[in-house]
Amino acid sequence: MKIGIIGSGHIGGLIGTLWSRAGHDVLFSSRHPETLDDLVASLGGPARRGTPDAAIAHGDVLLLSIPFGALPEFGQAKRDALAGKVVLETGNPNLRRDGGMAADVLQSGEGTGAFLRKWFPGVRMVRAFSTVWDGTLATGAHRVGPRIGIPLASDDADALDVASRLVLDAGFDPVPVGGLDQALRFDVGTAVYDTGMSGDEVRATLNPKPADVVEGAPRKQGPTSHDA
Ligand SMILES: NC(=O)c1ccc[n+]([C@@H]2O[C@H](COP(=O)([O-])OP(=O)(O)OC[C@H]3O[C@@H](n4cnc5c(N)ncnc54)[C@H](OP(=O)(O)O)[C@@H]3O)[C@@H](O)[C@H]2O)c1
Repeated sequence: MKIGIIGSGHIGGLIGTLWSRAGHDVLFSSRHPETLDDLVASLGGPARRGTPDAAIAHGDVLLLSIPFGALPEFGQAKRDALAGKVVLETGNPNLRRDGGMAADVLQSGEGTGAFLRKWFPGVRMVRAFSTVWDGTLATGAHRVGPRIGIPLASDDADALDVASRLVLDAGFDPVPVGGLDQALRFDVGTAVYDTGMSGDEVRATLNPKPADVVEGAPRKQGPTSHDA
């Protein structure tokens, strides 16, 4: 699958690396692409680097992993280019880093997914890879025994399927929880946040029911990880 990484830091760099090793066609991006030369060289093969615009153009699927406070402006600026793309978004509101907007989101009681829906209209958005510290992800990918659980939320059933395949390919256990509103259940401060729980432990804690998962959402044509 063709994947664009926007924000190739701790999370984006790591998850993109895992997908590249799994055989996906990954373009890592930065506002300063030359800073990614070492990362791309370390992977060899077809991994490439470029600007965020190049990543958007390249990817059938995008991983968006930038500071949460930058998301509203990014969604506005890239609105047309992002339309119709499957986007896995990882950000968490952080008062120290993101300031007042983080406080607004945390105090709203709506959860991050509801804000993503407002900030990214027309985007097939999935909350993903938001609950686990990068160090835990780095040491736990493809581990023997129960894999680390990655809760997922999306209003788009097919985007959720694509994200689930990509979580598996990265070496973790996908746990679809429901529509974007359900991201509230695994946001900062919840029982599953920053625990490194296995998929079964996340499922037992969040207890997602099949009917919770994007009930009534239309299934659209889209890429699957079998395109890799
Ligand atoms: N680290 C973790 O353990 C962890 C775990 C779960 C979720 N998260 C969340 O995931 C997101 C990324 O975390 P991270 O630790 O990977 O952060 P990071 O290492 O600081 O990487 C973020 C990247 O975002 C890019 N960036 C910054 N501002 C931007 C803007 N305005 N527009 C476009 N790109 C911008 C930067 O790339 P350039 O400057 O090169 O363009 C930077 O490399 C955060 O929202 C965080 O809350 C982090």
